[in-house]
Amino acid sequence: MKVSNLNERIHVLDGSSSVMSVVKDIVESGLQEEAFYVLDIGDIVKKHQIWKEKLPRVEPYYAVKCNDSPTVIEVLAALGTSFDCASKIEINKVLSAGVDPTRIIFANPAKPASHIRHAAAVGVDITTVDNESELHKLKKIHPHAKVVLRIRCDAEISQCPLGMKFGCDPVMEAPNLLHLARMLDLDVVGISFHVGSGCQDPPVFHRAICHARNLFDLMKEMDFKPYLLDIGGGFPGDRGTTDDVHVIAEPGRFYVASAFTLATCIHSKRSVRSDKLSPSAITHNMYYINDGVYGSFNCILYDHQRVVPVPLKNGCGKMVPSSIWGPTCDGLDQVVENVLMHDLDLGDWIIFENMGAYTLPVASPFNGFPVPKVHVIADENVWLLLKDILPMTEEHFVIGNSPDNLRLGLDIDGSKIDEWNDPAINLSGSDIIDDPNNSSPFIYEYVEVGPIN
Ligand SMILES: Cc1ncc(COP(=O)(O)O)c(C=O)c1O
Repeated sequence: MKVSNLNERIHVLDGSSSVMSVVKDIVESGLQEEAFYVLDIGDIVKKHQIWKEKLPRVEPYYAVKCNDSPTVIEVLAALGTSFDCASKIEINKVLSAGVDPTRIIFANPAKPASHIRHAAAVGVDITTVDNESELHKLKKIHPHAKVVLRIRCDAEISQCPLGMKFGCDPVMEAPNLLHLARMLDLDVVGISFHVGSGCQDPPVFHRAICHARNLFDLMKEMDFKPYLLDIGGGFPGDRGTTDDVHVIAEPGRFYVASAFTLATCIHSKRSVRSDKLSPSAITHNMYYINDGVYGSFNCILYDHQRVVPVPLKNGCGKMVPSSIWGPTCDGLDQVVENVLMHDLDLGDWIIFENMGAYTLPVASPFNGFPVPKVHVIADENVWLLLKDILPMTEEHFVIGNSPDNLRLGLDIDGSKIDEWNDPAINLSGSDIIDDPNNSSPFIYEYVEVGPIN
């Protein structure tokens, strides 16, 4: 095991801390302006415990595409999971964490030739296939590959269906592909499927496993020696019986979704007054935060996620219909369309939990807005567990939750972030807040203007 990742130090906290208290401590330092994540690796350890308890027979191959943060890979490698990679770069990321190539499945049924060549060169042999040309490609480039035939069996309800892109028909196509593999003298070792990411149709696993069972029988008749059943992502399941089938899965979001909490800051606000009967009343607040759909919230577009905004400060006064927008100049960059929230000010923080799956790997710094940094925490017990299985030195950990410790690793230059609080600008006066104690200085007049030309 090699630890290459000094930037993402693990902050070891005492038992009284939580993700939210860490967010508050960082925010209250007044030195943090950019959006940032808190990654609680204890949450990943807990998920692994749940996996082992609920699916003891199924070996998890973590799907790197879901979140390729180096800390996630290193922690999972230390816990003993294997990995599902879709490309040469993902393979390299996993190998560079010291993982043996036999613990990787190249689970992309449509692979560029150069990536197959790389897999062959580094000893990644297990790979999925769902079409004829991929079998020919393997014959030419990686003839000793262990081929896993990916079949299609879609959940009736899933967040991200995958069947329209991958998986051969288990009845109409799979037998022909097996015959071709036999002719090409390729070694087909098993069957895989992915019922769709975010599956809400548990019985689909039964249907898919029945197809796999039939194909195992056919493979045996054809003199293959199938031993691998890969049940993909989405994971209800019973305790296994004993036979000689090696069951694996490719969990992605299961391991990382809840481990990442995103903190975003409101940098701009537009209060809309559109009630003709009460022209000074604010009818809608538009908040602009420092992460959007080109950054972490790409998950709204690509992963059909619903994100839930939680203001960090306790609100008071009237609830106002509000929308939340990302920082770029694109009108598509909307994070939350309509939500009732207490009035918030510039500099207030909005937290989004469950932001670990299909967020960071896709995020871009479009329009010059950076992708949030990750702040890694673990409580003492998790640290005690990990420090023995991760060969980390003390440099990889920061012990204690003092404000200085908490800021280590985030891009904080030490100057107070309060430029919007310029006393020369008088922004007082509001008719939105019922509560007289809540005196927000950040109310802007909304003036309707005609087109310039
Ligand atoms: C081949 C493959 N395996 C595993 C996964 C992970 O799925 P999930 O995050 O639903 O567990 C995906 C997701 O797209 C995938 O394409």
